[in-house]
Amino acid sequence: MRLQAARRVCVLTGAGMSAESGIATFRDALTGLWSRFDPAQLASEQGFRADPRTVWAWYAERRDAMRAAQPNAGHHALADFARRRRGVLTVVTQNVDDLHQRAGNTEAIRLHGDILADRWFDRCARLPACATHEAEPGRPPRCARCGNLVRPGVVWFGEMLPPGGLEAAERAAAASEVMLVVGTSGAVWPAAGLASTARQVGAWVVIVNPHPSEIDAQAHEVVRGTAAIELPCLLSMGADSS
Ligand code: OAD
Repeated sequence: MRLQAARRVCVLTGAGMSAESGIATFRDALTGLWSRFDPAQLASEQGFRADPRTVWAWYAERRDAMRAAQPNAGHHALADFARRRRGVLTVVTQNVDDLHQRAGNTEAIRLHGDILADRWFDRCARLPACATHEAEPGRPPRCARCGNLVRPGVVWFGEMLPPGGLEAAERAAAASEVMLVVGTSGAVWPAAGLASTARQVGAWVVIVNPHPSEIDAQAHEVVRGTAAIELPCLLSMGADSS
């Protein structure tokens, strides 16, 4: 009921949102990427500087997996809700895939960047700045003039979030009457703080996650289930209990 009556709904999603599309999460035991790979090597500026080839190859594989993945029933349920209730829903995602966008939530706020986008690694001091690059198979493309490297457009540990995204996400959380938190461990800040922002302004906070998260205490309701199964029920007309 609350969801259908709410004039503003904010949804924060994490890697679990895309798990049923076949994209691995980070912190799930056994299947999570950070249980098999070292984030210091693969998700930091220092790691990329030390071994750009390995890091580039790892992201190239993940890019292929994300291009091949399809939005699941949870992504579609959010997009359908946004179409039915124009202007009500803001999706804020920590995910670097484009599954919300491909399902129809084209305005989803991406807190941690876009894995399919390229950007220059170093800020270029030359004028005109880096513009052309040459690619060798298996290596990150580099600037033909100064050697600057191309890197994936994701946020790595220790880096600032893309400008504007966090502010927009905080505004959406602070304006929300219902906050849905889907498929995140709540281990990474500042994204994890959006649930408490919403709670402080009196929003009803619902967590959807098959396992406990670090921010369960912020929730009025915890739905122990998966995104693709629970979101269609929660968001369909008249079928939600929250
Ligand atoms: P995590 O891997 O930390 O957490 C994934 C969460 O999804 C866990 O709490 C799981 O229990 C839950 N989960 C698993 N399958 C699910 C399903 N089918 N439906 C719903 N929930 C499910 O991922 P994030 O919280 O997104 O940073 O991680 C936050 C950030 O840490 C990521 O954005 C990434 C990573 O380092 C960057 O890329 C910058």
